[in-house]
Amino acid sequence: MSAGLRNAFKTAKEQNRPAFVTFITAGYPSPEVTVENLLALERGGADVIELGIPFTDPIADGPTIQYASTQSLKHNTDIPMCLQMVRDARAKGLKVPIVLMGYYNPVLAYGEEKIVQDCKEAGVNGYILVDLPPEESHNFRSICYKHGLSYVPLIAPSTTEQRIELLSKLADSFIYVVSRMGVTGSRDSINAELPAIIARIKKYTSIPLAVGFGVSTREHFVEVGAHAEGVVIGSRLITVTKEALEKNQNVPEVIQQYAAEVCGRKHSIETYAASEANQADIEVNDAAGRGPFSPDDIKNFYQLATRFGNFGGAYVPEALVDCLTQFESCFVDAMNDPSFRQEFESYYDYISRPSQLQLASRLTEEVGGARIWLKREDLNHTGSHKINNAVGQILLAKRLGKTRIIAETGAGQHGVATATVCAKFGLECVVYMGEEDCRRQALNVFRMRMLGATVVPVKDGSRTLKDAINEAMRDWVANVSNTHYLVGSAIGPHPFPMVVREFQSVIGRETKRQMLEKAGKLPDAVVACVGGGSNAIGMFHPFVEDTSVRIIGVEAGGDGVHTEKHSATLSMGTPGVLHGTRTYLLQDTKGQIIETHSVSAGLDYPGVGPEHAYLKDSGRAEYRVADDAQCLIGFRKLTQSEGIIPALESSHAIYAAIELAKELPKDKDIVVCLSGRGDKDMHTVVEVLPKLGPKIGWDLRF
Ligand SMILES: Cc1ncc(COP(=O)(O)O)c(C=O)c1O
Repeated sequence: MSAGLRNAFKTAKEQNRPAFVTFITAGYPSPEVTVENLLALERGGADVIELGIPFTDPIADGPTIQYASTQSLKHNTDIPMCLQMVRDARAKGLKVPIVLMGYYNPVLAYGEEKIVQDCKEAGVNGYILVDLPPEESHNFRSICYKHGLSYVPLIAPSTTEQRIELLSKLADSFIYVVSRMGVTGSRDSINAELPAIIARIKKYTSIPLAVGFGVSTREHFVEVGAHAEGVVIGSRLITVTKEALEKNQNVPEVIQQYAAEVCGRKHSIETYAASEANQADIEVNDAAGRGPFSPDDIKNFYQLATRFGNFGGAYVPEALVDCLTQFESCFVDAMNDPSFRQEFESYYDYISRPSQLQLASRLTEEVGGARIWLKREDLNHTGSHKINNAVGQILLAKRLGKTRIIAETGAGQHGVATATVCAKFGLECVVYMGEEDCRRQALNVFRMRMLGATVVPVKDGSRTLKDAINEAMRDWVANVSNTHYLVGSAIGPHPFPMVVREFQSVIGRETKRQMLEKAGKLPDAVVACVGGGSNAIGMFHPFVEDTSVRIIGVEAGGDGVHTEKHSATLSMGTPGVLHGTRTYLLQDTKGQIIETHSVSAGLDYPGVGPEHAYLKDSGRAEYRVADDAQCLIGFRKLTQSEGIIPALESSHAIYAAIELAKELPKDKDIVVCLSGRGDKDMHTVVEVLPKLGPKIGWDLRF
């Protein structure tokens, strides 16, 4: 089928014009109109059509395509429906080659082999997966090769020459060149660097280049077309559709007219794919002049192992790869440099380390089982464990010469920690926070702003942590040259889970030493709450080799794991890819991410750090669940028996530690990571007590 793609570029070249590559989102504004739009684009002069498969968390897309995806998902658009749209359009005579474009997780959920087979049967010519760089795409590319579907690589302005060489070798029909750093979206002008970017790629390949991102007018088309074999227009087509709908116009007619004007062909044109469309599949690869790539052909651009067993990796848009490898290299150098460790430790006074390890004597007595110890991360500067990682990463950012820091935050604790270190180190700070989280953690929003940070409320999706991460990723793609994304948990693409673990492991190392000093033995169990999993991995990692120590993570059960409103990712989720990493996710059967719920904003996340996924599957760690009411029991018990008001996140771990203490004899020792203090949660507790209070027999009314 991909002969159709090559042919489209060949014909355009013969006619001395760039190929016109269009993008629309499948299912927007509706599945029926999509079929008509495909035909309209062909009539308007499109040589290739990219059909966007909607995804809940499109980290590389700007507001326009995000909007179209969200609208499309309201029609329950899934992969079978997208394939049906292609079949329907083909049945109505569509000839131009079609490339599906989207994110990896829905493809994984559908089945990689199955989707490629079904694409072929439906009349799809190729696939672009935005978050599947060569390091991660071997399996999918091999399947594409087997079935003769083209796998179209992306090259970004930040892509190094070494990678350009590799990506060029992988290409079998055309290469999608991202014209500028950032997300999809129309722009007023074309990047002046474009000719240089194209020249760099041309050094390595003669395969056609189609340039997209920011192209919207006839002038842009001509300008870009002077340098590249193909010009891609996407966001503007969505906007044209939206405007036509608002004006009650016939969308396919408007789309056709716009397409014809942009590409300069005012009348219906002949299409080129038709005659060649059924040519032998193998021709794709003959054209590239080689057989299938083996995994060894893929030069690994990372120095460290990127995975924890089957989990982890770096599933990111090509624009971020260079930045991640630089960050990794900076991290490796820092770890090998004793002066870096000294520098990090020189901030222990500022953080208030070591944090205390205390026996919770009254709580232990009340429970009547094993001794419960508290690792007091709540006493750290800014009130939680987040500051450990914030100090560590800002030191790395300074080494990298970055001047601007961005972060995501759920409960606001990581945002506060980041704003704090930015104040201390004099760097600009922007914090993305879901609108819902801004509301429930208003005090922390104010703290961040007082510290000089800009807080950006995120209005998309569930308006919680995952949406804040999406937005931070989009900012990062656009501003990688001066910006470090200070990821706040042990999540995200490699090397973040490893970096965050390194800086948080101080928790477990100190605990080990302090337990030996105070009790003359290692603990029998360590317990921590798990959102993304940074305080937990910090506590757990130093104990992984100590097999006598049970490792127990506690997830947020929200309204209960029997309901749809919880955040118990490891306990109830399935493996998939989100935010750059392969891990357990709360997702539906189509690979769309489900909205989560927890009374504690910091645990309200549908993913989890990949190392926890590995510890779970390997059986080294156990993961339990505490629901909102149980969290409040833990909160109340610690407050009233020890005079310590814990964060709601940490209260999940307290509850689980209490339950565990009941199961164990009195001579056993449990250490629970008290990850943060509860001041930030007063407002939430007031809000939820009318609902949860009666369930746990707690009435605080005057
Ligand atoms: C006090 C506290 N504990 C725990 C968490 C959860 O994060 P993680 O799982 O990365 O430790 C948060 C997140 O905001 C938090 O504020």
